[in-house]
Amino acid sequence: MNHPQRLEQMIRIARRAGDMIVQARQKQNFSHDYKGGDELVTEVDVAVDQMIAEELEALFPGEARLTEELAPDRSQLEQRGPLWVVDPIDGTVNFAYGHAHVAVSIAWAVDGEVQLGVVHAPFLGETFTAMRGQGARLNEESMHCSRPTTLERSLVATGFPYARDKRAPLIRRLNHVVHACRDVRRNGSAALDLCHVGCGQLDAYYESVSPWDFAAGLLIAREAGASTSHLYECPEGLPVELYGENLLVSAPGIHGALGDLLRGADAGRPVAP
Ligand code: IPD
Ligand code: CA
Ligand code: CA
Repeated sequence: MNHPQRLEQMIRIARRAGDMIVQARQKQNFSHDYKGGDELVTEVDVAVDQMIAEELEALFPGEARLTEELAPDRSQLEQRGPLWVVDPIDGTVNFAYGHAHVAVSIAWAVDGEVQLGVVHAPFLGETFTAMRGQGARLNEESMHCSRPTTLERSLVATGFPYARDKRAPLIRRLNHVVHACRDVRRNGSAALDLCHVGCGQLDAYYESVSPWDFAAGLLIAREAGASTSHLYECPEGLPVELYGENLLVSAPGIHGALGDLLRGADAGRPVAP
């Protein structure tokens, strides 16, 4: 199967997943559970993960999968060859509370380089896609990031981990950003934040997340013209495109300034008045 045909299948599967998510919300009869202490997971997260796994296995038997609920073994990141990276529901808390920022994220990487990405947001009616080197699309239309040149004119998104004891240093960063930028958004889906940088609904996004949260969205943002980097050097031996610590994705004209601001916050620099 060539890359456009693969992408078609990914879109079909993501839309099927989106239909399951919409129906589950309409029925409101899904159970809630917690993993690792405070992290919410619903039975819909697991059912969607299962459906996507079955679809991918039927079409691409034997290709490795890294999926948040059923196959979260990160040692697969060190292997060469094809790898599917899937978040069945990105924005689980939004899903459970009835908010619209919810997405299905499916990426396909080869030797650690993401080749294809789909992020489908069923409640927003937005399907973002990208093929490496071929640009990014929103609902089939070509899309591009915004072009701000100053932080004062930039809308910046971020997120926080479920572990509350890891949030303090992020509040320091937030304090700097909120003083320097137009405003801040915490929309609750990393995959969508990245796509929204890609289409200009946001000017920048920074966060530390897991591979399934960002693999597809990062490709989509980059193909739409956004600058993508990590605030600090990545460890040897892990593919940079699947390493989610200290991600920074933004319109090109503010990338350097925002990186400096965030590193300055980490270093304890005082907030500019
Ligand atoms: C979460 C969302 C959120 C981000 C968290 C992620 P989930 O994914 O992407 O925006 O801030 O770090 O874990 O749990 O809803 O799939
Ligand atoms: Ca996620
Ligand atoms: Ca998830």
